[in-house]
Amino acid sequence: MENRSFVTISGHSKENILYLIEMAKQFEKCTNRNLLQGKIVATLFFEPSTRTRLSFETAANRLGARVIGFTDPKVTSSSKGESLKDTIMMVSNYADVIVMRHYLEGAAKYASEITNTPIVNAGDGAHQHPSQTLLDLYSIWKTQGTLENLNIVLAGDLKYGRTVHSLIMAMRHFNPTFHFIAPKELEMPEEYKLYCHEHHIKYTEHTEFNEKSIADADIIYMTRVQRERFTDLMEYEKMKNIYILRNEMLNCTRPNVRILHPLPRVNEINYDVDDNPKAYYFQQAQNGLYARQAILCDVLGITLNDVINDMKDKS
Ligand code: CP
Repeated sequence: MENRSFVTISGHSKENILYLIEMAKQFEKCTNRNLLQGKIVATLFFEPSTRTRLSFETAANRLGARVIGFTDPKVTSSSKGESLKDTIMMVSNYADVIVMRHYLEGAAKYASEITNTPIVNAGDGAHQHPSQTLLDLYSIWKTQGTLENLNIVLAGDLKYGRTVHSLIMAMRHFNPTFHFIAPKELEMPEEYKLYCHEHHIKYTEHTEFNEKSIADADIIYMTRVQRERFTDLMEYEKMKNIYILRNEMLNCTRPNVRILHPLPRVNEINYDVDDNPKAYYFQQAQNGLYARQAILCDVLGITLNDVINDMKDKS
């Protein structure tokens, strides 16, 4: 059987992305289904998570699957020295799909090469976070009515922020203009700027974050400075509060602008923004449930037609 793993967004065509968004839309209309009855979903989290793990597990439960897994590798035999390869081979004996977050870049791809059980990448180091990207795309599409020709500000830790790396790759199909706002120390890595050049993606770079830099944005995508990626904590202390979005900064922004953040936030969005109708990060996290239902179905070979027909059967 073809391995339908979901380890990166870069290999997905425009049609496939729009197809998955349509599937997420169907799940938002009707969330509780039995499409995965009898299936086992394993969630292997070698790094901490709140949203990604809980939304995948909720997605699995609402689709009728059962969930096994761990949230702390210290309680597994990897703490006794078992290799990632052996762990994946073992879990493949028990589960129909493996959702995996790992601190090593490329870990999910590696796992997908050693088993026929579909692997879903729930974040690999500072590299990629493709399921977050699908929910980001769904959120952008819902709030803007389109994914085409948008002005997108990415602000904060663009060096280690795996969500922004995946988002750039996915948006290549939709003629975006990106504005990368980061301090020199956390600027967008060269490989992603090169990716933009190769795919004719327009971008500008800035170090200042103020009213002017967000005035023409359709999407302001804030990111956290990630303490866990720094080897020098003094460097983190210098960077941690570098940009803070405050409510008054939104006064002269476009009416359609929406503020996204993959969460968790630390200080980069002031709490006074939460009640502004332009804040969308909590709804964005909710959209994760529908996007992850679509991903679980897709990797298990359930089609959009199956999802639509299942809903017809219910009505
Ligand atoms: N956005 C995100 O990946 O959140 P968690 O780390 O809580 O899963």
